[in-house]
Amino acid sequence: MSAPIDPSTTQAWQELTNLAESFQADLAGWFEKQPDRAEQLSFTAAHLRVDLSKNLVTTPVLEALARLAAQTKVEARRDAMFTGEHINTTEDRAVLHTALRRPREDKLEVDGQDVSADVSAVLAQVYDFAERVRAGEWLGVTGKPISTVVNIGIGGSDLGPAMVYEALLPYVKPGLQCRFVSNIDPTDLCEKVKDLDPETTLFIVASKTFTTLETLTNARAARSWLLDQLAARGIWEGKDSAAQLSEQDSRQAVSKHFVAVSTNLEAVAEFGIDPDNAFGFWNWVGGRYSVDSAVGTALAVAIGKEGFSDFLAGMHAMDEHFRTAPLSENVPLLMGLINVWYRNFLHAPTHAVLPYSQYLHRFPAYLQQLTMESNGKAVRWDGEVVTYDTGEIFWGEPGTNGQHAFYQLIHQGTQMIPADFIAFANPTWPLKDGDNDQHELFLGNFFAQTQALAFGKTADQVRAEGTPESIVPARVFPGNKPSTSIMAPRLTPSVLGELIALYEHITFVQGVVWGINSFDQWGVELGKQLAKALTPAIAGDQEVLKQQDPSTKALIDYYHANREN
Ligand code: F6P
Repeated sequence: MSAPIDPSTTQAWQELTNLAESFQADLAGWFEKQPDRAEQLSFTAAHLRVDLSKNLVTTPVLEALARLAAQTKVEARRDAMFTGEHINTTEDRAVLHTALRRPREDKLEVDGQDVSADVSAVLAQVYDFAERVRAGEWLGVTGKPISTVVNIGIGGSDLGPAMVYEALLPYVKPGLQCRFVSNIDPTDLCEKVKDLDPETTLFIVASKTFTTLETLTNARAARSWLLDQLAARGIWEGKDSAAQLSEQDSRQAVSKHFVAVSTNLEAVAEFGIDPDNAFGFWNWVGGRYSVDSAVGTALAVAIGKEGFSDFLAGMHAMDEHFRTAPLSENVPLLMGLINVWYRNFLHAPTHAVLPYSQYLHRFPAYLQQLTMESNGKAVRWDGEVVTYDTGEIFWGEPGTNGQHAFYQLIHQGTQMIPADFIAFANPTWPLKDGDNDQHELFLGNFFAQTQALAFGKTADQVRAEGTPESIVPARVFPGNKPSTSIMAPRLTPSVLGELIALYEHITFVQGVVWGINSFDQWGVELGKQLAKALTPAIAGDQEVLKQQDPSTKALIDYYHANREN
């Protein structure tokens, strides 16, 4: 594996530093001088139209960014990813989420594994299961068909499926619903199951490692809930609680109401889930890149084989664009490089993602794991500490809600916040009130926001509206606030797949430029270890309590003093 390049030692980095020093943002002027700027900087990637023209970039900046990509060997590393080199260096693994959506006939062998054959075998298993549930052929222990699927998982085993489910609600089979339990806070599971019928509920326990505390704890609690509820209904004669059930009774019920998704099929069997009801995947799929693996089983049930295949096809279409489009038209490459420009040269600490689609309300949360768990690193893949900023904070909410909450800061605050706006030409629900088309009102806001951000409003314009001089400054919009507009005809499974893959590749590009391994997540380990180590103190172990730092000890003491039972 080639050594990472310190980007700050490249010539392009120096050029960008120089450009940033004398940089004067002037979106209005740039559009005036170059009337075809919008056309020149708008691109098509699969079904997405991406307008980069309202970004704070000029031709010299874009050219220097292209040189930065060349000097940090982004394209070579992209090719290494697609062909299965072990670019996840700290875990010595290939990174092959793109193989999950390759057409079946597209052969790929990596490390002696026939990846294409394995992927299509598991997919066939997932589809078979999904179709049986959808057709009412998969029956619960009392012979009733399944109407609710509860996915238990966390991080990548939750955020992707939960986000996609919400986004594709119109494609969900009527009569079926999915719920998603992730938090170890008992509230999550209890609230999600409290109105469910155990006879028609099926749990999917999704965990890449099958060792995650939250997921295994929730899965055990769900199993107890299921058995207690079934027993209370008297389905086993003379036994009205889980405690009275024989091993065989429990196994029989669990086999009808629990399936699992994991790379660790041994642990699945140990948990008591029938290996025939387990769907595997491989350690070359990172958790946050796994929604298109068997981790998407709940989705395959919800939207069916056709919907899920379209979703995968959309991802593949974006992969192909990323893999083959020249740099000057390669949308993930351009967006990733522009993000580097903002992060390292214009010093933007955060990046907003603002979908104008209520269906995408979980998209920013999903992106937070994708981007921040991937690029929140301070050492390069050879262990050298970086001397420049890396991963920005991603955040957002759907428009127009965000407009009435935090857009004030984007428009008039002191920080520059690059923002991606996402919208669809066609509504799922065409609502009209007289002449008012509600979707047009919605899109009006989408178009207006990027316009306001880019071009602002001068003091003279404010005065011309008759504003008293004393409040003119407060009503000025400085403009030159960068945004990208992403549009597609409609939010379909395939378009959603394209969007997800777009952001996966943007994240990848940034990681390569920074020389970091975007595919490990060691930063989540310490908290897990400490939680395990100090839990006995919470349960009253004085020795362990004494070992805690004064602040933590005092907090645990507060807990003991205030816990009611
Ligand atoms: O703790 C972080 C993490 O490892 C994520 O990367 C992952 O998506 C999540 O936990 C869940 O892990 P698993 O799927 O193994 O339960």
